[in-house]
Amino acid sequence: MSTTFGELVKEGARLLADGGVDEPYRTAGRLVRELLNVDAVTLAAHPERAVSDADAELVRRAFRRRADGEPLQYITGWQNFYGRDFQVTRDVLIPRPETELLVEVSLEHIRTRPQPVWRLLDLGTGSGCLAVTLAAEIPTAQVVAVDISPAALAVAAANAQRHGVAERVRLVESHWLDAVPTTPPFDLVVSNPPYVAQTDWPALQREVRDHEPYVALVGGEQGTEVYAHLLAALPPYLVAGGKFACEVGFEQAARVCAVGEAAGWWVERVIHDLQGIARTVVFTFPQVFSDNHRTWPGQGNEG
Ligand SMILES: C[S@@+](CC[C@H](N)C(=O)[O-])C[C@H]1O[C@@H](n2cnc3c(N)ncnc32)[C@H](O)[C@@H]1O
Repeated sequence: MSTTFGELVKEGARLLADGGVDEPYRTAGRLVRELLNVDAVTLAAHPERAVSDADAELVRRAFRRRADGEPLQYITGWQNFYGRDFQVTRDVLIPRPETELLVEVSLEHIRTRPQPVWRLLDLGTGSGCLAVTLAAEIPTAQVVAVDISPAALAVAAANAQRHGVAERVRLVESHWLDAVPTTPPFDLVVSNPPYVAQTDWPALQREVRDHEPYVALVGGEQGTEVYAHLLAALPPYLVAGGKFACEVGFEQAARVCAVGEAAGWWVERVIHDLQGIARTVVFTFPQVFSDNHRTWPGQGNEG
């Protein structure tokens, strides 16, 4: 027996409520709209409209996945970030609104200091949300985007293509800086690294713990290990006065600042998110390293 838009939304809302999903009615409506490509006005104005059995089954499968805890974004396949839609799969972290602070602080810095080329580095690019957004917002940007996960890099490549910046975003599979040359040096490095402490991982929301990649979440026993590694390793990759802007986890900012200062960085800014959590730290490295010598393969002067 065929069903209607209205019946399908109600059925989904019941299933999602039983599965402990927040805002079940709204989520059910969103799944119907996105999977059947129906706009919100049509759905609200025509609850009596018939849905084919095949379409209803497609949506019911999505209801079951969401009721089992799978994030909505992995079911619909996309997430908006800084005004652009990014493809997401289970191989990448779902971009978070607080990470947009890294975009804002980078744009503020770049737009007040025009220069012919901006060399940017994104460490742990995942979906490519930071690298692609910065390339799209700054036409003079040349971006290197690093990740250890080839599957994540494939998603980042699709997003760079989708937003027309593939020629200016170089994707590199690497354990952090291992495969990145120091020359030419970067003006600005951004990173939203994995920062959950191993001991906190079991207590994460099921949507996160059971569905998002472990490698994208857990930063080590303390959670702050990656910052120590990057703050020690980055200086030779930067121009004089180069910046490193990173996202940090809850109550991590003070420790990350202290680690940076001990490694010779200046803390330029600590920015709080909308919940008042210290979320983004901007460091400056005051000197230039004299041993900038490792170039991209094929560009000479390697070694
Ligand atoms: C928190 S996610 C951030 C993804 C994306 N930049 C964002 O903000 O949504 C961290 C990313 O770091 C990558 N990563 C983890 N360990 C890494 C390593 N050793 N070297 C390079 N990338 C790594 C993960 O694969 C993941 O994509």
